[in-house]
Amino acid sequence: MKTALLILLLALSACAANTPTQAPNSGKQLAFNRNKGNCLACHVIADGESPGNIGPPLANLANRFKKKQQLRAQIWDARQFNPDTSMPPFGANKILSEAELNELVEYLWGL
Ligand code: HEC
Repeated sequence: MKTALLILLLALSACAANTPTQAPNSGKQLAFNRNKGNCLACHVIADGESPGNIGPPLANLANRFKKKQQLRAQIWDARQFNPDTSMPPFGANKILSEAELNELVEYLWGL
């Protein structure tokens, strides 16, 4: 009985220890994570806390962009469409990897 309890406690503490160090990988996590996309610094996104308003709210993007590729291009390097933009070139400057960009686009497309 004691052993079972000990194993349970060990398992629980392992789970707790894992949560904060988990790398952001879902599109939403990537968008919200301050060290990754940090999109909330400038954009309002549904569920996001303390968003900035430097850029337009990110909603309804499937209507706005028609193709995922166009949305991806905007995030890859916004300077293609506005040389004076304050939005960081997430792809061109390798802030986000190709795989991370794909995750992010999938998430944003569904907003
Ligand atoms: C430093 C501020 C800043 C950050 C951080 C930022 N953006 Fe932007 N974003 C802008 C601004 C400003 C615009 C307005 C268009 C422009 O400047 O060309 C914009 C435009 C956009 C647009 C086009 C919206 C439209 O309707 O035209 C999308 C999509 C977008 N951002 C996605 C993102 C995503 C996704 C992230 C995070 C990975 C992000 N942005 C991070 C500033 C930012």
